[in-house]
Amino acid sequence: MKGIKEIPREKTVDNTLTLLSEGYEFISNRRKQFNSDIFQTRLLGQKVICMTGEEAGRAFYDEDRFIRKPAIPMRIQKSLFGKNGVQTLDEKEHRHRKGMFMSIMTHQSLDKLQEITKKQWTSVIPKWEKNKKVILMEEAKQVLYRIACEWAGVPLKEKEVKKRAEEMFNLVDSIGGVGPRYQKGRWARRDSDKWVADIIGQVRDGKLSAEPGTALSIIANHRDLTGELLELELAAVELINIIRPVVANCYFVVFCAIAMHDYPEVRKLLKTNNEVYNKMFVQEVRRYYPFAPFLGARVRKDFYWNEYPFKKGTLVLLDLYGTNHHPDLWDDPDTFKVERFREWKDSPFAFIPQGGGDYDKGHRCAGEWATVKILQTTVDFLVKDIDYEVPEQDLAISKTRIPTYPKSGFIIQNVKST
Ligand code: HEM
Repeated sequence: MKGIKEIPREKTVDNTLTLLSEGYEFISNRRKQFNSDIFQTRLLGQKVICMTGEEAGRAFYDEDRFIRKPAIPMRIQKSLFGKNGVQTLDEKEHRHRKGMFMSIMTHQSLDKLQEITKKQWTSVIPKWEKNKKVILMEEAKQVLYRIACEWAGVPLKEKEVKKRAEEMFNLVDSIGGVGPRYQKGRWARRDSDKWVADIIGQVRDGKLSAEPGTALSIIANHRDLTGELLELELAAVELINIIRPVVANCYFVVFCAIAMHDYPEVRKLLKTNNEVYNKMFVQEVRRYYPFAPFLGARVRKDFYWNEYPFKKGTLVLLDLYGTNHHPDLWDDPDTFKVERFREWKDSPFAFIPQGGGDYDKGHRCAGEWATVKILQTTVDFLVKDIDYEVPEQDLAISKTRIPTYPKSGFIIQNVKST
């Protein structure tokens, strides 16, 4: 008969402040300390099981064992996610709504995204050539916002670009924030929900035409399982679930630029027009740099995993960053090595910067292919379409701020078209 094992447990009253101070490494620090891919702690006044690694991922994405809805805190629904969006759904309802998102990600639509991305980056060159210095993070927010609107079919008002791009950024930047940083996320949610609901309302009233196949058209016309159109506020939340994460790619864009700066030999190889190498580079950037830290779900019903007991209702966190740096899965995990992706045997639970498992059946990021397309095109632009210098600046990336980016925002100067 199988035994029952006790989950290694931290003897603290509450670890929320430690989580805030250790950030991305909170779970992996304890994985090392307990020498275990599972441990129990207390966060926000409740018992929490933290897990890391491929097998943990496989269990976490088993719908019979875990449920998402009760795991998404209201503070996140009032900022980053919005209320009742796809992230909060389970089972039939989730699959139906997720189908709506996946129907946006056709080959044709992704090719269009690539074309738009190339065009939008190229169009900033004259302005960058005139400016003495360019802060890539700031520029990327706005370029990505333009890309998002054009791809999604959302009308763009030139005088609103800066404000709306900042709103989308603030939604993302609020995740790990308390005080003013979180409050900015709440305001951004309030204003952007209103703005997008108005656009969807115009489409439904026939005042604005939406090109078939775009996110605007698909979401405005989507019907839920009862055959009803999504409520206006909910449709807005879902359209923002397209626009916001496209803008969120600004973090990855800056990480790509840092990697090319830190590894000039890699940059040289990226110039040689090799698509395979370009994709390997983008994958290594998504693995190596910290972005989405962990995900939460609650135990649906009592079960055992590797002889450890999981009690119904317990909150469980899956460590995304830690799994992407797990020493059992990655050789020399804390070294940036593009070549590791040449022989990479794809696994849905080992490389999980944007979640794991199945796109259609589970919660894995609907925009993962879109992200790879945007980044590949952006890298091509940065290495082939312009030359620039990188002045002395602090490029340290804190692992305690969630999400994180270098304080300088990555400054470049003397930009010239090639
Ligand atoms: C083109 C850009 C993107 C789009 C359109 C997009 C869209 C989405 C959507 C709709 C979901 C919800 C899926 C569900 O609950 O079933 C999702 C989940 C997720 N996305 Fe993205 N996303 C994009 C980029 C990103 C980026 C840049 C990141 C950064 C790491 C990211 C990380 C995630 C994560 C961690 C999840 C949750 C996975 C899970 O719950 O299992 N996404 N994305």
